Amino acid sequence: MTQPVNVTVTGAAGQIGYALLFRIASGQLLGPDTPVKLRLLEIPQGVKAAEGTAMELEDCAFGLLEGIDIFDDPTAGFAGANVALLVGARPRGAGMERGDLLEANGGIFGPQGKALNAGAADDIRVLVVGNPANTNALIAQANAPDIPAERFTAMTRLDHNRALSQLAGKSGAAVSEIRNLTIWGNHSATQYPDIFHATIGGRPAAEVVDDQAWLVDTFIPTVAKRGAAIIEARGASSAASAANAAIDHVHDWVNGTPEGSWTSAAIPSDGSYGVPEGLISSFPVTSTGGAWQIVQGLDVNEFSRARIDASVAELAEERDAVKGLGLI
Ligand code: NAD
Ligand code: LMR
Repeated sequence: MTQPVNVTVTGAAGQIGYALLFRIASGQLLGPDTPVKLRLLEIPQGVKAAEGTAMELEDCAFGLLEGIDIFDDPTAGFAGANVALLVGARPRGAGMERGDLLEANGGIFGPQGKALNAGAADDIRVLVVGNPANTNALIAQANAPDIPAERFTAMTRLDHNRALSQLAGKSGAAVSEIRNLTIWGNHSATQYPDIFHATIGGRPAAEVVDDQAWLVDTFIPTVAKRGAAIIEARGASSAASAANAAIDHVHDWVNGTPEGSWTSAAIPSDGSYGVPEGLISSFPVTSTGGAWQIVQGLDVNEFSRARIDASVAELAEERDAVKGLGLI
């Protein structure tokens, strides 16, 4: 019999949590043959609502769901965790940038890193969703010295999926015909969605689209500012699409990316493409054997270089800011 995988979700009673948990329990995170035990971590005020969500999970009678436990203590919540989805954080409101949340949310991820270090399973994989996601992941990682650094990742898959959809809309192609888009850098307005290595139906995307003004004035800002546009329209930050991207990220990390195509994830830099080692920055990545690899050897043109550098500079500033706050 397959052993269940322990999946800890923080912020389980929040919007993203509600969109995420049912999909994990139904097998979409790890596959149709892998039973799961859910560990819901909340702050004390969130526990009652998490209990309500747990009741609904029970009422779905999912065949793969072997247990649900609820915690308000990180050390208990992460004990034995194989996968940790760090969602719980304060979302930004209208008019705020994600970086404005550094101090508010920085305090959450240090203790959670320590708790992961204390009791997570040896194969722990961490995805940080709570913003500012890249730097929160860095804080958690810095507080978990016994866990291999590459197990800490942050989510840019939502940006990747947004870029796929925008490119499909412009070109008239189906999303499934597009390969090898890349999100570089930070999950912030400086991120760089790069179509220069992408193909649409096997042809270079930049040739199919052939519209530099659209690229500069529409595509890049639409993708980079989509989070704010959703907040403006919905009055709350993206939730179902964020949960969907978290499922995609962990699914591909564990099960591998399809042959011949890459995706985007923020992972610790090994210095590739001039990104300072250690920054948790988005790259073109594939996954094999349960580990991410940065796609190597891509030509980076001048247009892309300037944009990657700007986003990476912002990540370095965020790192320095949290260092200054004593968080790493
Ligand atoms: P939400 O306010 O609906 O839910 C957050 C939940 O986290 C709440 O239930 C709260 O009680 C809980 N929480 C707060 N501090 C906690 C802690 N220390 N431990 C455990 N739980 C805690 O917010 P949401 O809409 O679910 O968004 C969650 C986060 O995800 C926000 O930071 C948001 O900005 C971010 N986000 C990231 C992406 C991305 O692409 N990376 C996309 C969408 C949202
Ligand atoms: C998003 O990209 O939708 C999230 O990061 C929420 C936000 O604050 O933009």
